[in-house]
Amino acid sequence: MQMRNAVYKELETEQLFDTHPETSLDFIHVRRAVEAGYTRPFLLVDTQIVRSKIRRFKAAMPRVHPHYAVKANPHPQVLRTLIEEGAGFEIASIAELDLLLSLRVPAAEVYYSNPMKSREYVEYAARHGVLWYVLDSVEELRKIHSIKPDARLYLRIDTPNIGSDWPLSGKFGAHPDEVTDIIATAAALGADLAGVTFHVGSQCRNPKNWRVGIESAKRVFAQMRLAGLKPRLLNIGGGYPVRHVKPIPSIETIADVVNDAIRDLPPEMRVMAEPGRYLVSDAAYFVCRVVGTATRAGKRWMYWDAGVFGGIIETQEGLIYEIRTDRNGREISWVVAGPTCDSMDVLMRDQMLPEDVQEGDFIYIPNAGAYTSSYASNFNGFPLPEVRVF
Ligand SMILES: Cc1ncc(COP(=O)(O)O)c(C=O)c1O
Repeated sequence: MQMRNAVYKELETEQLFDTHPETSLDFIHVRRAVEAGYTRPFLLVDTQIVRSKIRRFKAAMPRVHPHYAVKANPHPQVLRTLIEEGAGFEIASIAELDLLLSLRVPAAEVYYSNPMKSREYVEYAARHGVLWYVLDSVEELRKIHSIKPDARLYLRIDTPNIGSDWPLSGKFGAHPDEVTDIIATAAALGADLAGVTFHVGSQCRNPKNWRVGIESAKRVFAQMRLAGLKPRLLNIGGGYPVRHVKPIPSIETIADVVNDAIRDLPPEMRVMAEPGRYLVSDAAYFVCRVVGTATRAGKRWMYWDAGVFGGIIETQEGLIYEIRTDRNGREISWVVAGPTCDSMDVLMRDQMLPEDVQEGDFIYIPNAGAYTSSYASNFNGFPLPEVRVF
């Protein structure tokens, strides 16, 4: 416990800074898209930016093979662009697997990184040729092994998510004593437990989290070898941040930490990552419209035609988007809500926006290509956002 606290203390002192310019979709394209017509909220995606982001990722970390997290934005044109750039993929479900197979992605390039999978899903993935499966418990190890005894397995370990806008630790990730049990069980079963993975938390602004994760993985590799297992995969997960309103470390800054930490790994160790947000966010604007405004108990409210259920859900966990309008009045504090009747459909409670925003105005959210259209539902009968890709 004491060592754990020491690690956390060190992470808290990390400086956050912008060191390299970031790209964003040019607003001229958004203007043209709105002029072309508007019937419902839409996400406008430029695949050239997706292409440039994966190239930049690979240039920064030449030894790290990117496997795109399909959940961030599963649009087929986004996936095709990444296929052309030689990416592999990470999936959470068999629907994502089917999508990739329909685009002729070899099953061997697909890693099943959801730590909790139904028996039926594992059977389906195994039948369709997926080789690699994650786990973080003895039960999941036994489940996968009973279905596919020759599966290649990687172990998700718990790692600090300090400095991440969207922490993921807690729900998944084995703790040290559980790691010991999982390794012993794999050795006893003769299962091919061959890798380690971790996730530093989404929109991670603290590069040291990757160092801590990689150093922990090395200790687990040593434990595996002692148990007679043959570790040969390090999967450093997702979490690479994009620009919204807070400063972020560039991918090159994170790469300095990662490249240094993986330098002493044996050459036969495959190193991969699972970037989601980083590859698609900057490539898109989310566009929606003001349905109406109101004053309630002295507070100004505006209601958009897309809210928590329409794709703008990440504000619920503290992600702060930049928001643009066509107005230039004095900025005042607004409560911003979605169009549904659900009281939890409130996006922001103290958002500075021009006081002259009115019904019918357009709202433009840059760098919104990830976890927007893929999160949206039809709740209350409102339409899903349209995804326009060029
Ligand atoms: C297992 C796994 N890998 C990768 C990602 C992608 O994370 P990010 O979009 O932050 O890069 C996620 C996101 O939830 C995930 O659960």
